[in-house]
Amino acid sequence: MRKVKKVYLCIPFLFLSLLTSTNSQEREVSERQLDEELKIFISRFRYAPTRVPSKKSVHLYNLGKSLFSDKKISMAGDTACITCHQPNLGTGDGLPLSIGTGGKGDGLERKQGSGMTTLRNAPPLYNKTHPGFSRLFWDGRVQFKLKPKAFKTPNPNLNGEKPFFEDIVDQLENASAVQSLFPLINEIEMRGHQFSDLSDREVWDEILRRVLNRKSYQKMFQKAFPDENWNIGHVGKALAHFQDVEFTTRETGWDSYLRGDTKALSLPEKRGALIFTSKGRCFMCHNGKHLTNFGFENIIVPHLSLNKKFMDDGRRKINKRKGSAFQFLVPPLRNVGLTAPYFHNGSMTSLEDVITHYNEPIESINSYSADKINELFGKNYHFSFISQYDEEANKLLFRNASRRLPLHLNLSQKEQRNLALFLRKSLTEKRFLHMVQ
Ligand code: HEC
Ligand code: HEC
Repeated sequence: MRKVKKVYLCIPFLFLSLLTSTNSQEREVSERQLDEELKIFISRFRYAPTRVPSKKSVHLYNLGKSLFSDKKISMAGDTACITCHQPNLGTGDGLPLSIGTGGKGDGLERKQGSGMTTLRNAPPLYNKTHPGFSRLFWDGRVQFKLKPKAFKTPNPNLNGEKPFFEDIVDQLENASAVQSLFPLINEIEMRGHQFSDLSDREVWDEILRRVLNRKSYQKMFQKAFPDENWNIGHVGKALAHFQDVEFTTRETGWDSYLRGDTKALSLPEKRGALIFTSKGRCFMCHNGKHLTNFGFENIIVPHLSLNKKFMDDGRRKINKRKGSAFQFLVPPLRNVGLTAPYFHNGSMTSLEDVITHYNEPIESINSYSADKINELFGKNYHFSFISQYDEEANKLLFRNASRRLPLHLNLSQKEQRNLALFLRKSLTEKRFLHMVQ
């Protein structure tokens, strides 16, 4: 009797353990299939881990680090690079549009004060010093070519193979270094209107003079560039080196996975990666090592501006071609979970909103309202955001929409969740998470 009872009791356990073992076996099999599928897409769209940062040159790094967070390098004396590119806010400022010189406070608490607002969202700085990034700014207005070395920038004296400011250009070795010179002369960002009558070179020379007026900087320059004739190019070079060491990602879950560690991503993250590389068609533009094709695309982003008269038509302003209207550079996506709000005008406050936009772009733009942005950020600015394209712009926006942009993705709620998880978790490096409060 007792024996029978024991067997009887055992049956459900046996059954249960059998059931779970087939389940986990099945899971293993399907996870292996997922890995196999991902492998195909990874090679097809040339996804690869990022490189390790270039070797740190201590003196150059120290100089760049000081300059990056020093308000005195602005003509107005109240704005530093770090004001708008804060490590603890994903190297941006957490705002849709930045507040330049004259603004009060930092980060999410920054108020407009007597300052002007930038026309675009401050992009993150992660990996922007890497060789692939030969164009910078949302419209690519700064450009670098290695062989033969030549820049194309808004200041003609820096441009071409035989630039007029050869002494400055000699110091600059990538797009990031030349880019660093432009916030300094931008009236909204760091220069201020009171210096609008000076030439760019006069502003650069004056900034250098002010910097070198301080003994601590003289020492740092002497160590970083012994016995050289210093100019603003040295400032750009140091700023770029600092950004390279500080803001290069090394080991996100995605990078570990690409290096062969199949355990680096969870099952839902892998499902998200598969949406990214297949059904979601993100790979059409976000491909290669940095998850960008480095091209200009129009993904019909809703309009968002503080200025009724301003219509941002992106790349067209630079190359004057109608076909480039509303195109912006495809951004890289490492650490994208840390860098809200999104898009060139900060119109999307979360990755979920970005994904909703891609799922049905036309529906997204038609139903977009600036209310959410005004609610979240109204306290930072004097004026309210508006989101209406005029009729002509609207027509051109749709006519010019990228052919790579799907208009109906039909992603299920679960697929969208997994995709968001991939963006937020797999692409984020833990080292930077500690910097985000
Ligand atoms: C007032 C805010 C503000 C300040 C100060 C500022 N930036 Fe920016 N930064 C921006 C905005 C806004 C953009 C985007 C402008 C555009 O694309 O038209 C930008 C763009 C950039 C980019 C290009 C990134 C990309 O993806 O193309 C880099 C690099 C950068 N800034 C570095 C710096 C450095 C270095 C300094 C200091 C010398 C600095 N910034 C000062 C707001 C600021
Ligand atoms: C047709 C090309 C294209 C496709 C397809 C595409 N993107 Fe983008 N993506 C862009 C461009 C261009 C931007 C910048 C747009 C802007 O700000 O005006 C962008 C911006 C983003 C941003 C915001 C980044 C930031 O720093 O603001 C995220 C996140 C993103 N894309 C994710 C995705 C995902 C996920 C998919 C697939 C569902 C996808 N993209 C498909 C071109 C594309």
